[in-house]
Order: sequence, then C-alpha cells, then structure tokens
Amino acid sequence: MNAPLPRILVLGSGAGSNFEALAEAADGRYDIIAVGSDKVDAKILERAERRGIRHFTVVPGDYPDRRAHDGALAAAIEASQPDWIALAGYMRLVGPETLAAAPSRILNIHPALLPAFTGLDTHRRALEAGVREHGSTVHFVTPELDAGPGILQARLIVKADDTPETLETRVKTMEHTIYPQALGWCAAGRVAMHEDQAWFDGQPLDRPITVDEHDT
Ligand code: GRF
Repeated sequence: MNAPLPRILVLGSGAGSNFEALAEAADGRYDIIAVGSDKVDAKILERAERRGIRHFTVVPGDYPDRRAHDGALAAAIEASQPDWIALAGYMRLVGPETLAAAPSRILNIHPALLPAFTGLDTHRRALEAGVREHGSTVHFVTPELDAGPGILQARLIVKADDTPETLETRVKTMEHTIYPQALGWCAAGRVAMHEDQAWFDGQPLDRPITVDEHDT
C-alpha cells in the first residue's frame, strides 16, 4: 500500500487562482484536504466547493480581537491536521498561535522579488521605483510580514509598456508554476526550514532558487 500523501491546507482571501494551480498539480504529490478563508465571500471558497474540497471560514469580525481570531484559526488548523499550510492570497498577518499550529511548515507566495517590496501594491510600487526586474517569491512564513526565507523565485524583465495590470498577469502566470513546484518539493521532503534557515536537498539555501519567466 502506498504511504498517504502529505496533507495540505490552503488559506486564501481572494480570487484563488494560485489555489487552483496547486490543486491542478496535486496529483500523486500531495492532497489538498481543506481550504480556509477569513472572508465569507472569497472566490477561493467557490473554487474549493467546485472541486469537492472541504472549506471553512474563520472571520475576524466574529472575534473580540486579533488574538482571539488567531486562536480560533489555530484550532481550525489543528482539527484539520495538515502537514503543510499554503497561504495563497491570504491577506492577514499570521499570528503566533497559527504559526505554532504548523511550525516551520507554512508557505506563502508574495508578488515581488523579496526582500524587495514587502506588503501591498507591489506591482505599482515596482513600476514607480523603475526596477528592471520584478517577480514573485515562495517563502516560509515567520512572524514578520513577508520576511521568512525564500525557496523559489520567478523573475521577469519589466517592459517599457508594462502597467500594474500587465505585471499582475505576467507575475500570476509564473506563480501558477512556481507555487506547485515549491509545494511539491516540500511535500517530497526536499525543502525544510530549521531556525529560520531554508534547506534544499540537505544544503542550506542562502538565497531562493531562481527561474526566469520563459522557463515557467
Ligand atoms: C498572488 O499574486 C499572490 O502572490 C499574492 O496574492 C495573490 C493571490 O492571487 N499573495 P490568487 O487569489 O491566488 O489569484
């Protein structure tokens, strides 16, 4: 009998295109056991429903403060018993109890070449800064926003006529390749984080592995 596949919980707040890409690539590599959201009307929940994947919400407004919401999310995670958590457009800072519910096993995808442009509105900010290269990074989640060690990064060359919208489209297309790739590595036991250091195939990763747009 084959060993059970690693159990993945996806958390998202929005459109869910990265969730869709993760689900498309899951076959034989990992099992997406549930999707959670902080928003009742998030499209990612409809996508989960369509795929027959269990989904749930833990909505901040239902709790007196940030800490209580964090505790409730941690309880929902513990009930799901995931091996890995993949944040896919989850628009909240992950709190300490949530982090403790899956220690060193939470991934995020951020639409910039971290450590550049943490936070929101990355495509517009990249254009305004006049950068030559832009992209997206899959990284481990640590307490500080968008600051955990990088695993895999996809890079594009900004064109003269790019707008925030064209950059978003180009970046998301790359994300739909690199996120399943990185999650597959984690599920296969090839990637891990120890003491805030990422490791790949038993070697420390001092910077994320990088691929270019035409290779994604
Ligand atoms: C992606 O660009 C991701 O990098 C960022 O949020 C966006 C989510 O898009 N964290 P989607 O909901 O997966 O379509």
